[in-house]
Amino acid sequence: MIRFEQVTKRFPDGTVAVSNLDLDIDAGRITVLVGASGCGKTTTLRMINRMIEPTGGRILIDGKDVHDSDPPTLRRQIGYVIQQAGLFPHRTVARNIATVPLLLGWSRKKAKARALELLEMVGLPAEHANRYPHQLSGGQQQRVGVARALAADPPILLMDEPFSAVDPVVRAALQDELLTLQKDLRKTIVFVTHDIDEAIRLGDKVGVFRPGGGLVQYDTPERLLAAPKDAYVDDFLGTDRGLRRLSTVSAVALTAVDGPAVTEHTPVGRARQIAAQHDSEWLLVLDPHTHPRGWAKVADLPETGDVTGAAVTPIGRVFQLEEDSMRGALDSAVMSPAGLAVAVDGAGRLVGTVSLASIHASTP
Ligand SMILES: Nc1ncnc2c1ncn2[C@@H]1O[C@H](COP(=O)(O)OP(=O)(O)O)[C@@H](O)[C@H]1O
Ligand SMILES: [Mg+2]
Repeated sequence: MIRFEQVTKRFPDGTVAVSNLDLDIDAGRITVLVGASGCGKTTTLRMINRMIEPTGGRILIDGKDVHDSDPPTLRRQIGYVIQQAGLFPHRTVARNIATVPLLLGWSRKKAKARALELLEMVGLPAEHANRYPHQLSGGQQQRVGVARALAADPPILLMDEPFSAVDPVVRAALQDELLTLQKDLRKTIVFVTHDIDEAIRLGDKVGVFRPGGGLVQYDTPERLLAAPKDAYVDDFLGTDRGLRRLSTVSAVALTAVDGPAVTEHTPVGRARQIAAQHDSEWLLVLDPHTHPRGWAKVADLPETGDVTGAAVTPIGRVFQLEEDSMRGALDSAVMSPAGLAVAVDGAGRLVGTVSLASIHASTP
């Protein structure tokens, strides 16, 4: 665990970047520090590995004051990732990743093997090992930055806006990968961002900082969204707080029921009956393996034959009860012309449908 006790940083020009900060950071979890620019997030992060020295208070790692460890020893147990990855431009990808192992005196062979292992872990092909950073995309460079920070397997990872410079799609992929990696690695990660969505997505706990006001609220994403402590936090969470909150609630509480679903080979007459039983103007058409194919409008069904030939509107989104959030279920219902969310199992087969009304009723 990392503990801040009454930590203050006053820069020589008189700027107080951090003031009397008390904060406990859980081991093996992702803690996100979020706030507008200038509210002391980077300063807070850099005091952990002594890139910046506090002017008051102390910081303990597992009960030990960081001030009592010399910076090189301290940094060996703390990986550091920054925006734009901060890679050495004149070194190959493998050499970049191997930086710390080589400093630690590992053999070239062992360091190289470790670099290749990490490349794979962060989802990059082995051929990239001999490229130079400028030959990679921004997202790939960030992955190398993460690999480099993990090279010596430090228990602590500090990440300062690591994904802020890449486009939203790549960013979401990097966030997913960090969460996947963390399932195995269980590092103590302190992640700084100014993006509240990123904070809620990644954080086991989120600390909201206010310019000049320090840490305003420190909570799980669920509690933050359910009970913002004051108007500042409420504003920061934004007008779509309700929607964001749905992203933190599992869809498992929903019950999927038999909906107006038919396989392609259902005769049209029978299909009309099923639609009528469900009082529905739309039918969910399934392939022979019960994978949902699309929505067919009952009024547009052919006169005779089966449903195979019916025109279908594609399904915008399906969801899984165990894997997805209420937000996922809501998106699925909203995108469906019938107002029904489509629940599938892990193999993409239909489990059932959930109405908008029952999603609302099941939302705390
Ligand atoms: N070396 C420095 N000297 C003086 N002021 C600084 C220095 N570094 C940061 N600051 C100031 O401290 C405040 C907090 O900065 P920082 O920790 O970088 O914030 P954040 O990462 O949240 O944007 C800002 O007002 C910034 O201008
Ligand atoms: Mg910063």
